[in-house]
Amino acid sequence: MAWDTTDTLGKGDVVSNESLANLLREERRFAPPAELAAAANVTAEAYEQAKADRLGFWAEQARRLTWETEPTETLDWSNPPFAKWFADGKLNVAYNCVDRHVEAGNGDRVAIHFEGEPGDSRAITYAELKDEVSRAANALTELGVRKGDRVAVYLPMIPEAVVAMLACARIGAAHSVVFGGFSADAIAARIADADAKVVITSDGGYRRGKPSALKPAVDDAVGRFDSVEHVLVVRRTGQDVAWTEGRDQWWHEVTGRQPAEHTPEAFDAEQPLFILYTSGTTGKPKGILHTSGGYLTQAAYTHHAVFDLKPETDVYWCTADIGWVTGHSYITYGPLANGATQVMYEGTPDTPHQGRFWEIVQKYGVTLLYTAPTAIRTFMKWGDDIPAKYDLSSLRVLGSVGEPINPEAWMWYRKNIGGDRCPIVDTWWQTETGAMMIAPLPGVTETKPGSAQVPLPGIAATVVDDEANEVPDGGGGYLVLTEPWPSMLRTIWGDDQRFLDTYWSRFPEKYFAGDGAKKDDDGDIWLLGRVDDVMLVSGHNISTTEVESALVSHPKVAEAAVVGAADETTGQAIVAFVILRGTASEDEGLVAELRNHVGSALGPIAKPKRILPVAELPKTRSGKIMRRLLRDVAENRELGDVTTLTDSSVMDLIQTKLPSAS
Ligand code: WT7
Repeated sequence: MAWDTTDTLGKGDVVSNESLANLLREERRFAPPAELAAAANVTAEAYEQAKADRLGFWAEQARRLTWETEPTETLDWSNPPFAKWFADGKLNVAYNCVDRHVEAGNGDRVAIHFEGEPGDSRAITYAELKDEVSRAANALTELGVRKGDRVAVYLPMIPEAVVAMLACARIGAAHSVVFGGFSADAIAARIADADAKVVITSDGGYRRGKPSALKPAVDDAVGRFDSVEHVLVVRRTGQDVAWTEGRDQWWHEVTGRQPAEHTPEAFDAEQPLFILYTSGTTGKPKGILHTSGGYLTQAAYTHHAVFDLKPETDVYWCTADIGWVTGHSYITYGPLANGATQVMYEGTPDTPHQGRFWEIVQKYGVTLLYTAPTAIRTFMKWGDDIPAKYDLSSLRVLGSVGEPINPEAWMWYRKNIGGDRCPIVDTWWQTETGAMMIAPLPGVTETKPGSAQVPLPGIAATVVDDEANEVPDGGGGYLVLTEPWPSMLRTIWGDDQRFLDTYWSRFPEKYFAGDGAKKDDDGDIWLLGRVDDVMLVSGHNISTTEVESALVSHPKVAEAAVVGAADETTGQAIVAFVILRGTASEDEGLVAELRNHVGSALGPIAKPKRILPVAELPKTRSGKIMRRLLRDVAENRELGDVTTLTDSSVMDLIQTKLPSAS
């Protein structure tokens, strides 16, 4: 659906009749299930309460945590945009995530049901987690890590990743988790930027049915610095590792000789908790800095509210990797602060078979599932019959995060995974926001396929035009956040100026998220992807997300990635890469059929000039399509940096498709 024809980004008036018409076509609505609504953790009243007294609302949410010194001050905004939340409060984040549940008599509750890719499993109770975190905290202390130091973590999806993060938090050191799939260069850049003195890694992890080494990349990266004093190595796969005496230590040896007692010290609410690097579109990765009290407050509150978590009975599963922010806020911090029981899975969704996720849901009786649109579209491609073989009746709320979810993927998720019964919560947020910002509440919101809809209670978000004027209902423009929030990034590590330039300079006194968005007639927010992903075709602004959603709404398409390629006549031309569903074949008529389908959904201007069926799309480890690389392909250029791709051979496959099309 064309975003606007003449006046979108750049000229002020972003209200588009065309996009409005298309939005109005999405008329499907799903009311919250009555039973869930009747017992919901959060009701519509929360919006009213937060509107009447936003800071009072957050002060109340902060009381979900256990503070050694209760904060008396909620927000210090005297030096915007550098926020301090709950600044005179003191707490220990790890105590909040672990010890207090044991003290409350819930030590026997399972915190983590770990499922290894080869099929090994392990249940860790809160009491056991407390011992492990305490031992690890003692171990880091023995290795010389002190409050304020940085520790890099490069681990597979194993419980030690959570233990390592919490051990850092417990002693006031900031962790910097680096994706297990990243290269030595990426690790080195992050170690250097954060000046980490210890690295925690493992021999390897299981991926796609075999052990995959991690330590060689760490050895390569660490060898470039004098600053790294120790490398702690978790034994996971048992594969051979190179060893640097004096520097390298086995995790089980160092933690094994420690006492299971460790007295947590309370730190200031603004004590740095972690740095997490986000790549952005260009330039050197940004070290997003999060601190303690405000971050944990919002991670815990949103997890409680948006998943309607009942810690005594729910089994929660977030399929994200610990190496991205979803793993930080919705595996480690939010769920554990709330005393949840959760599943943690090491491997890929198709090992050893394409039903693995549903087998896990059935095995543990998962009730709350949080995954990404990219995974959902992959499951669509594999076919409806796969989830149909499993008992998914335990599920009660389904979450989505990471990119806009195409309405048809949303419908597929609802029907095939949620049994037409579970509300879907599409959660918009970013590494920078630390926690969810825009999402339905499962007991309150009547949901709409493809929309994150409403700012959560206590959050102020809107859509503005190029001149920073709020657009009316039905209008489109840029998503902005208009009030500070507790889990907001505090700065870019070591670079306050870049923090100001990137987020706070585009619109005065507003946080610019970098996403295009529009409001529908009810004022609900629809995300349209990164603003850099808007195409300009014959003077018409068209969002890649909308063309992709139109393609995915065709029964033969599972997934689509759309880019604008330079074109002599039209400025940019729309090029679409599509993955076909299960049995669909790539015959002559298909491309024409798909072009017409997009044309009738969005108007002739949005018809892709070229459509290329491909087997895979290039994605980052967090599941985002790397349109930049597809643009390189579409414009017959040499490929740019492919180091953050999950699998760089995907690009070779796509390029072999190309001669016929160029
Ligand atoms: C960008 C942030 C939030 C954790 C995972 C990604 C996109 C994320 C949604 C959603 C539409 C979404 C945005 C955002 N995004 N969730 N529900 N609907 N878009 O964190 O890597 O920092 O990426 O992801 O473009 O700006 P991230």
